[in-house]
Amino acid sequence: MKNFEKPKFNNPHLEDLDSYNRQYLESINSPDNFFLNKAIENLDWFVEPTLGFNNNFKNASWFEDGILNIAYNCIDRYAKKNPERKAIIWQGDERLQTKAITYKELLENVSILANGLKAIGVKKGDRVCIYMPMILEAAYSMLACMRLGAVHSVVFGGFSPEAIRSRIDDADCRYVITADEGIRGGKRVPLKKNVDIALEETNSVEKVIVKRYTGTETNWDSSRDICYDDLVSKQEKFCECVHLKAEDPSFILYTSGSTGKPKGVMHTTGGYLLGAHLTFKYIFGYQENKIFWCTADVGWITGHTYILYGPLSNGATTLMFEGVPSYPDASRFWQVCDDHKVNIFYTAPTAIRALIAAGEKYLESSSRNSLEILGTVGEPINPEVWQWYFEKVGKSSCEVVDTWWQTETGSVLISPIAGVTPTKPGSATLPFFGVIPSLVDADGKTLEGEAKGNLCIDQSWPSQIRTVYGDHHRMIETYFSTYKERYFTGDGARRDKDGYYWVTGRVDDVLNVSGHRIGTAEVESAIVEHKNVAEAAVVGIDHDIKGQAIYAFVILKKIEAGQANTYEEIIEQVSLSIGKIAKPEHIQFVRDLPKTRSGKIMRRILRKIANNNTDELGDITTLADPTIVDELIKGKA
Ligand code: PRX
Repeated sequence: MKNFEKPKFNNPHLEDLDSYNRQYLESINSPDNFFLNKAIENLDWFVEPTLGFNNNFKNASWFEDGILNIAYNCIDRYAKKNPERKAIIWQGDERLQTKAITYKELLENVSILANGLKAIGVKKGDRVCIYMPMILEAAYSMLACMRLGAVHSVVFGGFSPEAIRSRIDDADCRYVITADEGIRGGKRVPLKKNVDIALEETNSVEKVIVKRYTGTETNWDSSRDICYDDLVSKQEKFCECVHLKAEDPSFILYTSGSTGKPKGVMHTTGGYLLGAHLTFKYIFGYQENKIFWCTADVGWITGHTYILYGPLSNGATTLMFEGVPSYPDASRFWQVCDDHKVNIFYTAPTAIRALIAAGEKYLESSSRNSLEILGTVGEPINPEVWQWYFEKVGKSSCEVVDTWWQTETGSVLISPIAGVTPTKPGSATLPFFGVIPSLVDADGKTLEGEAKGNLCIDQSWPSQIRTVYGDHHRMIETYFSTYKERYFTGDGARRDKDGYYWVTGRVDDVLNVSGHRIGTAEVESAIVEHKNVAEAAVVGIDHDIKGQAIYAFVILKKIEAGQANTYEEIIEQVSLSIGKIAKPEHIQFVRDLPKTRSGKIMRRILRKIANNNTDELGDITTLADPTIVDELIKGKA
């Protein structure tokens, strides 16, 4: 078939497309059996489950009578079998800063922290906020929570004090684990200071554990702050894993939606781990002694599932990178690949696009000979970018896997399986085991065959979101109410004649800026916090490197109110309320917004204006004031 890249890699877990088709059919026809077998074969249980799925998509449970622990599966079983195998290779911001720890050392480091946390009162079910740089202690913290059955809520180190505060409040966290500072791309990030500010207005936190990393002076509240190194120094080197039910929560991770504040997506212990484990094993064709590197931050779901839980539960060696692709220059990723002989590399299209823009010369200083599999995640990958990745980075000899998934799905749902699925540049190809994608039109009609529509998933999968923390109703509203009996992803997609999926991006008011998910409503409420702002509407514009950038239409309370300063201050306000990742690229001050007579903002029109698609504005006669459209076009930023 034309357009297909035939797989060359030998996947040790699946022979060919026929075996995929056979197993896929089995997985969707009898998911209970299929996943129970996989769960028992692949995970270590204290009590093996006999139950599969409970047949309730909106209140799903998987393996309900099984008992296990994620940390046991990620550490202990390999520390027993292969204690000297490298578990995590840490690569610091500077090339010479690197460290490798074995499974045995991982067990010790996680145990002493878990014992320390236990000593200060952390117990099963407690929520622990982790706001850490990309250092080994971030991994230890997450795994120590898992050992104790405490529920971690990792907050990305780039988020602002206000964003930390709202996440701590929402999950009612009693503990925070942080560091004095983080370092990234040569710059320091004041983590402890941000936590101090966040905690000024919240009462739930009792203890803050602080890793001394850069050694910089920070404020110290001795009734609340505990030094990480002191805490672990007096602890026993082994901590028993708490026995957890498969449906006990494992973590909460906040993500943006089209309305309101970020939602605390809650995942479980058994189903989540199985999803992480199986997708890592099959999709990347993992085999012993291969080095895996996922470039995400542990603050995102990709970091949870594919820096830690997927690789470690397979006994792999996972690389954790503190730096950025552009520091000290655009050859950094490839230098790290050569330095550590990385075999499987997983990154976001936005990073690849930035490296393409930097120029091919940055590829010349590395061989990248160790690479076998190249993965992408987070946004649609343009076919040209896919080709560049395949031809230039992988020298036309690696498999490219474009993996589609979400915070809510826990693990990859649509992706090629390396060495098995023939790929087409730009397509996430076919569903993983147990996943039934469907395309529906705006009225909920199922579209068959070649079609373009809204992407839904029609059957539960083990690592599906269980609830929105503290608000189960919101979960049902968000994912299960748009279309009956279906999980609605919020994405649009096309299915081609070969049944391949091409995910085109969000169809709701969620933006994807450099692979980071940002809700327009969140940015708007941050902007209106500025004292001069009366109203704001935010849309996404196409951006060559970021995928999307943020364009804000802002109505000031008084037009004459010092616009020049206000522009900068609004940007600053967004950084303070959310973080730098949500800063608008452009702000256009406007007299009014295109609204219907009932006052609803017509975002469709704003999107077209911001993207210079003014030829296709469509019907504007329903607007309360159609003249505003011309005014907005003329005043474009
Ligand atoms: O729009 C899709 C896009 O990222 C969204 C999920 O964002 P988040 O929960 O932050 O998780 C990102 C990492 C899993 C999706 O709704 N997305 C993710 N992967 C792809 C993608 N869009 C197209 N192709 C992908 N491979």
